[in-house]
Amino acid sequence: MENLLQKLDLAASYIKNKVGNDPIEVAMVLGSGLGDLANEISNPVIIDYKDIPSFPKSTVPGHAGRLVIGELLNKRVLCMQGRFHYYEGYDMDVVVFPIQVMKRLGIENLLLTNAAGCVNENWKPGDLMLITDHIKLVADNPLRGINFEELGPRFFDMSNAYDKDLCNLARSVAKEQNLDLKEGVYQLFTGPSFETPTEVKLARLLGADAVGMSTVPEAIAASHMGMKTLGISCLTNMAAGILDQPLNHEEVLETGKMVKNKFTTLVKAIVKKW
Ligand code: HPA
Repeated sequence: MENLLQKLDLAASYIKNKVGNDPIEVAMVLGSGLGDLANEISNPVIIDYKDIPSFPKSTVPGHAGRLVIGELLNKRVLCMQGRFHYYEGYDMDVVVFPIQVMKRLGIENLLLTNAAGCVNENWKPGDLMLITDHIKLVADNPLRGINFEELGPRFFDMSNAYDKDLCNLARSVAKEQNLDLKEGVYQLFTGPSFETPTEVKLARLLGADAVGMSTVPEAIAASHMGMKTLGISCLTNMAAGILDQPLNHEEVLETGKMVKNKFTTLVKAIVKKW
């Protein structure tokens, strides 16, 4: 049995064999309904997760389950079209395996995107939110267990998990585009059940502006390895209990489609200036 480092390096060399050794400047994880951005990558090399050694497989509708590597606005990028979620049954260390592979590929910059429920009642579905920080009351942690010093230190800082310079970059790009980019705190829930109305009230009391089922483990693993992370949420629905209507996944995907252009334009301009 290989240890984690050996598995990471096997996965990374498989990918390098397909795409060569030119440096990749930015890696992106595209959330529910936001995966179409990968279709704008030119000269793409597409690698199915199922073909990469030790990579888990995605099971969620709306998540394609492949890496797309190529050029976006003259930058070399790697996109995860579809990610792994804790609620699918993967342990958190498995959820962050692809992020660790990215770092082993030499990638230092990470854009995490997601669909999230909107907890801030001043905002509306379709708004985009810059993630400035997160709350993880979920007990588990992707770095629980043996620490590999080659990846990062046992104990590490999380105060710049969402890189302040990258936040400023996102703010200035949004301003140029006259885009009303909200900013706030994302709170992780495990899912797959959506939150109860009372959990949403609690999240708001704690300081959350959005709730979701992803991103936080990945941001933790990226911080561990000293990667610079930017996070953007697409607020696809008002969180449970705010409106007098039930939540469903179709609504999440529909809003994702609605804001696709706004989202894509913002992300491309950010990548261009990264
Ligand atoms: N809660 C959790 N995750 C989500 C939501 C939500 O309301 N919307 C999209 N992802």
